[in-house]
Amino acid sequence: MDDELNALRRTRMRWNTPLSEPHAELLLDRMALDDGHLVDLGCGWGELLLRAAARAPGLRATGVDTDRTGLDRGRAAAGSRGLTVEFAEADAAAWAVPAERVFCIGSAHVFGSTKDALAALTRAVRPSGRLLYGDGFWAAPPNPAAREIFGPDLLTLPDLLDAAAAAGWRVLHLSTADQLEWDDFESTSRAAWAEWLAAHPADPRAAAVRDWLDRRLREYVRDYRGVLGFTYLVLGR
Ligand SMILES: C[S@@+](CC[C@H](N)C(=O)[O-])C[C@H]1O[C@@H](n2cnc3c(N)ncnc32)[C@H](O)[C@@H]1O
Repeated sequence: MDDELNALRRTRMRWNTPLSEPHAELLLDRMALDDGHLVDLGCGWGELLLRAAARAPGLRATGVDTDRTGLDRGRAAAGSRGLTVEFAEADAAAWAVPAERVFCIGSAHVFGSTKDALAALTRAVRPSGRLLYGDGFWAAPPNPAAREIFGPDLLTLPDLLDAAAAAGWRVLHLSTADQLEWDDFESTSRAAWAEWLAAHPADPRAAAVRDWLDRRLREYVRDYRGVLGFTYLVLGR
């Protein structure tokens, strides 16, 4: 798909993870934000980082991602809200300055697997700090199609918690995305292109957009709705 459509695709999403507004507020509460440094590794457009910066004006906030479209969206949102948030174009796996607070949500793949991420993130968080870690897990046994989409590294929730403990983390908070959060995430991930398709049915790109929208909905409903879970852990040591 071309740059114009790629830039449009996620514009209806609040953030790129299944998360409601009240759930986000709860997670920010549990992170006990103060005046230290908060780094969001794999921040996308950094909406949760921006909410954190708005809550704790003394906080130094840095988002790290490799995707320029997301970073530009984050910078524009920070500017329009009068927030000072740095958006750095960099490889999060190479980020070497430990911070008091770290977010890593939906970005475990940056480090390899879930186990790799949980181990690597111990070096990104100061010993007295907290990590908000969001990751997928198998909530029900996957069919072959779901396994094909999400790969061999996804764990069950008990195995994910064992991996966190093995890396030296203590769980300070655990919650999971509910069905409405998932359905809203999937619907908003399709919404911008669905609206574009309705407005441009004769565009030469319409057939490819329609195919993508149909496939994504079919895969969600047939292959992983209720099977793929997503957990939010606040971790300390
Ligand atoms: C599922 S998104 C999560 C975005 C964000 N954490 C959120 O909750 O909205 C995963 C993000 O990882 C980013 N990413 C992939 N490889 C990366 C890398 N090596 N370094 C930094 N970010 C990376 C992608 O660009 C994408 O924004």
